[in-house]
Amino acid sequence: METENQKNEFLHDTLKGLSSKPKYLSSKYFYDERGSKIFQDIMRMPEYYLTDCELEIFKTQQQKILNDFTNGPAGFDVLELGAGDGMKTKVLLKHFVNQNANFTYSPVDISGTVISQLIKDLKNEIPHLQVEGLKGDYFKMISSFKDKVSKRKIILFLGSNIGNFSLEDSVGFLIKLRKSMNKNDLLFIGFDLKKENSLILDAYNDAGGHTAAFNLNLLYRINTELDSNFDLDNFYHEEVYDADSGKAESFLISKVDQKVTIKKLNKTFSFAQGEKIFTEMSQKFDIRMVEELAEKSGFKIVRNYLDKRQYFMNSLWRLKL
Ligand code: AVI
Repeated sequence: METENQKNEFLHDTLKGLSSKPKYLSSKYFYDERGSKIFQDIMRMPEYYLTDCELEIFKTQQQKILNDFTNGPAGFDVLELGAGDGMKTKVLLKHFVNQNANFTYSPVDISGTVISQLIKDLKNEIPHLQVEGLKGDYFKMISSFKDKVSKRKIILFLGSNIGNFSLEDSVGFLIKLRKSMNKNDLLFIGFDLKKENSLILDAYNDAGGHTAAFNLNLLYRINTELDSNFDLDNFYHEEVYDADSGKAESFLISKVDQKVTIKKLNKTFSFAQGEKIFTEMSQKFDIRMVEELAEKSGFKIVRNYLDKRQYFMNSLWRLKL
């Protein structure tokens, strides 16, 4: 269940985004229960190479990762931001448990259903794992992480979630994360790398229509939560990729001239035929961009782990002291 504050924020952000020129809606609202399920389908589609690549890195480099995480007898606490169904992370967790590593795992996710399902699965699949789920918006929970001091804290931010920020916002987010970290803590981030345009466009514009449904779910969510009358058939999804900047951007485009009323806002919005609503940024990186991001936000790269096709990179960072 959403809190009153979360509902007000959704209302406020929807008003702001649809009153702007050009219009936008934040991709952070993709992840209601329906959207989180669609995202899990996306992660399993063949076109969405990101999952396979990160999984390959974890399967083939798990021991190297454990060596880098290990902190002597004191052990470590793993905190995962936006854990989802934990499909990839489980590979690492199983390996760590099998190696008798001294660690705990705390998945953080905005969806309570996702967290309880994940805890249930983990209890079944990795019974010896010490786990404590945290439900909430990780943007808001970050500052409380500073208090976890007894062990080395390792923050996981996987799946190229970082790409859903603009480059400027990622620096702000990473600085905030850095401030929540203590001297010996580490940050382990997944970056989707630049590659052939068609591969990226197929991943975000799949033939099965999952990505379109994921985007359109935002309008469905506004209809159900904010009492509006978006006709989902009157919008289509489009993906644009610019190889130079590495920006992959999602839009919902109005098929016709139309008006939509959002009762909870007491407001009617007009959409011209062809008018775009920007819904999501999925930034793609090259290694130089990752180095620059680490530098700007006050981190040092400990190690980069790549898959064999070099489509994806997990980068382990420590504080620049
Ligand atoms: C969660 N995030 C990293 C995904 C991405 O690739 O940007 C969300 C997504 N959007 C469309 N497909 C997947």
